Amino acid sequence: MIDFRSDTVTHPTAAMRRAMYEAEVGDDVFGDDPTVNALQERAAELLGKEAGLFVASGTQGNLVSQLAHLGRGYETIGGATCHIVTWEQAGHAAVAGTAVRQLQEKPDGTFDFHDLEEAFRDPTDQHQPITGMVAIENAHATSMGQPLSLEYTRAVGDIAHKHGVPLHIDGARFFNAAVALGVSPKDLAAPADSLTFCLSKGLSCPVGSIVVGSRDFIARALRGRKLVGGGMRQVGILAAAGLVALSDGPDGMIDRLAEDHANARRLAEGLADMDGILSPGWIAQPTEGPLDPSRVATNFVFFKVRGEPGAFVAALEARGVRMLEYSHGWVRAVTHYGIDAADIERTIAACAAALKETSQVTAATQER
Ligand SMILES: Cc1ncc(COP(=O)(O)O)c(C=O)c1O
Repeated sequence: MIDFRSDTVTHPTAAMRRAMYEAEVGDDVFGDDPTVNALQERAAELLGKEAGLFVASGTQGNLVSQLAHLGRGYETIGGATCHIVTWEQAGHAAVAGTAVRQLQEKPDGTFDFHDLEEAFRDPTDQHQPITGMVAIENAHATSMGQPLSLEYTRAVGDIAHKHGVPLHIDGARFFNAAVALGVSPKDLAAPADSLTFCLSKGLSCPVGSIVVGSRDFIARALRGRKLVGGGMRQVGILAAAGLVALSDGPDGMIDRLAEDHANARRLAEGLADMDGILSPGWIAQPTEGPLDPSRVATNFVFFKVRGEPGAFVAALEARGVRMLEYSHGWVRAVTHYGIDAADIERTIAACAAALKETSQVTAATQER
């Protein structure tokens, strides 16, 4: 099975498994696990921040960041399609007791700066919630994984800071963005006060995410992590894989993300040539027309099919290829470690066959 549903399906590499087996461990709630401590320091150093915190998942990283930045009744300014708003069970409300003022992102995943300026509340007006944080997502998943540029990130950071508010980056795929832009992760993270990134996606680790920021921020995030049950014990077993992923040598998993991006682009080029493959359009402005492969900048491909997406995905699965039937009538394919260039060519052939089969079924149904 060639599995494009997500980069979360990746398995740890042989080097990771060795490192996990040999990991020196301690009780991390006492701060005693040397492997966790080393991973947190490595992540902070890579991203130019004072400190890091190992957490169970990207969702937990975003949640503890909100707990650290916000008081009850505070408000975050964030994108309407972003993960914090759409896919985290409104943890910001249910757990942190906060709201999100949602801005509709543009098709490239960015905010309109005028909308952003307008979204800040008046802190002198007792009727209004207090704006406590601006959040952006980089890479921005729903826009087909667009990487948000350094210039844009700086501009959003400047606006947030002008209003006395921190910038948080949900960087579940932050290293994909940095690699795609050819920018150092440290530079791209510089405008942010906090950032969470996932080890368990394109970096291929089995479990975990990291939050980075100032020492004070991380001390508050640590309290938040305990609150949500995220204090783990001999978790160096998991952190060891993260240290391998973030290493500079041949076992490191950051630079190779470029391969996933090239594979995603090639897949989109193959799909774009097929009759029956359509552009995903954009949520607020659906467009028809062909898929534009030049929009594939990281490891995400979204597209529509003429006919039933569910039938297409099932026909594909019967041919040994898994993709995800996604919201908005989209099909999602995410490239990752373990999928190579030959798999992409096999997938293109499987898509053509699945499309042929399902378009015949669709035509027959319409005739009836
Ligand atoms: C942009 C973004 N943020 C956060 C997350 C949450 O990560 P996790 O699944 O580890 O909770 C995801 C997961 O897909 C994501 O795509």
